[in-house]
Amino acid sequence: MVRKFWEFFLVTVFVLVFMGGTLAWAFQEVKFAVISDPHVSYPAANTKDSVKMEDSSVDLFKEAIERVNAIPDLDFVILAGDLTKDAEPWNVDLLREMVEEIRVPAYAVLGNHEVSPIPVKDKEPALATMIGSSKYNVVFALQGYGFQGSQSYWSAEPVPGVLLIGLDTTSVGTWGGKVSRAQLAWLEKQLFANQDKLTIVVGHHLLVPFREEEKKADWKNFYLDNADEVIALFEKYPQVSFYLSGHRHVSTVPVEKNGIWYVENASTLTYPMSYTVYTLTPKELSYEVVRLEATPEIWEVAKKTMLEDPWWKPSENATPEATQAYYEASEFVKYSMPVRFQK
Ligand SMILES: [Fe+2]
Ligand SMILES: [Fe+2]
Repeated sequence: MVRKFWEFFLVTVFVLVFMGGTLAWAFQEVKFAVISDPHVSYPAANTKDSVKMEDSSVDLFKEAIERVNAIPDLDFVILAGDLTKDAEPWNVDLLREMVEEIRVPAYAVLGNHEVSPIPVKDKEPALATMIGSSKYNVVFALQGYGFQGSQSYWSAEPVPGVLLIGLDTTSVGTWGGKVSRAQLAWLEKQLFANQDKLTIVVGHHLLVPFREEEKKADWKNFYLDNADEVIALFEKYPQVSFYLSGHRHVSTVPVEKNGIWYVENASTLTYPMSYTVYTLTPKELSYEVVRLEATPEIWEVAKKTMLEDPWWKPSENATPEATQAYYEASEFVKYSMPVRFQK
């Protein structure tokens, strides 16, 4: 009886030690930053400092790069789309030069502003004379920053045990988005083949509304047309734990749905101009939204234009004070979310 007990005890200890070692996620602590929606643009006839601080976009993106470069233990940087004003060739060139200044590996996804808009006659005459370009020019300009070859979506393992997937959520001719059939098939293959890696998916467009007000009809194009299909695929694979997006420009309350956390990342050129620093452990992902310093003049214009623009109001009758409180709420400046599948 005593011998049986000891046999059972030793086998149990062996299983716990051995299996515990092999089942744990293969990383300890990972730090990364997300810079989103820099909308990099040389000041031009059709740019202005407004809710999008376009004339200041280069200075703001440059400061964000300098600030994340100063984080000592940073592992990588994610650029969450809308990298240029409208994929103008000169702005794509500038973007590449600026991204090369990031001192750690960086991974970029396309935003709707990497798809040149179709000029709207009479509405935006300056656009009619602008040279547009294919989104694949951005894909080729950013080779090595996630993109490998002509595919506009990618996967990478920036840290052993962490899988990063970059989706192309753009849809030509609209600022809304979708994930193509071919891309969904590719995504499923990636998730099937990498079930031992904690997976963070990045896409420019949002998959879920973050607050009740965010369901406004005008804001429909913030969300993917086929969000349900993408979410269903994520939910099928327990290693998928976080989806990080841009596009909305402001940070807001993360949403949890069936164990997966959906997080919106702030823009560098819309009030309150920020980037986000994340820390991932095998148990949780936590983040802090950090405001840029910029200049008092830039802050003043960014705030004034945001509060005066009716489109950005969370509700039709929101006062400037209520709009400001909506975007500045302290509850989502620091946040912590558990990893969905605990090993
Ligand atoms: Fe944007
Ligand atoms: Fe966008």
